[in-house]
Amino acid sequence: MKILVVHGPNLNLLGKREPDVYGRVTIEQINSELEKIAREKKVSVEFFQSNHEGEIVDKIGQMKRKYQALVINPAAYTHTSVAIRDAISAVGIPAVEVHLSNIYAREDFRHHSLIAPVAKGQISGFGIQSYKLGLLAAIEAARERETG
Ligand code: DQA
Repeated sequence: MKILVVHGPNLNLLGKREPDVYGRVTIEQINSELEKIAREKKVSVEFFQSNHEGEIVDKIGQMKRKYQALVINPAAYTHTSVAIRDAISAVGIPAVEVHLSNIYAREDFRHHSLIAPVAKGQISGFGIQSYKLGLLAAIEAARERETG
């Protein structure tokens, strides 16, 4: 079983970017924690970070038959991207939306997610734990789907 983890725009800057909001954790540390979980659960995990909406749309569009679930932090595109939402919907693979910060405790424009209605669920506000919980949820969703 293969799970794709997508990090959206500016998440390459984690560790240096607004540490009061996002903490000091880097994207490499997140990926290595997720690798550990994947090993324990005997699944494989692949990572993709992009600051470009179209690249994220392309990557999701190519998921079929390669990946069984998606963990995505769409970052700023959470609040704006009909294209990413449509890509997730079109590919029909279970997706878990994750956020480091609690988007509902921040500015009003972050309170609305265009992705949430096409995701299996959303985990927001637990820092790196959001990703870890998201990966576990994605593995469960993929297994449920496999066994029907
Ligand atoms: C974020 C929250 C978004 O509102 C923001 O644009 C991000 C990061 C988070 O992980 O908390 O870039 O997705």
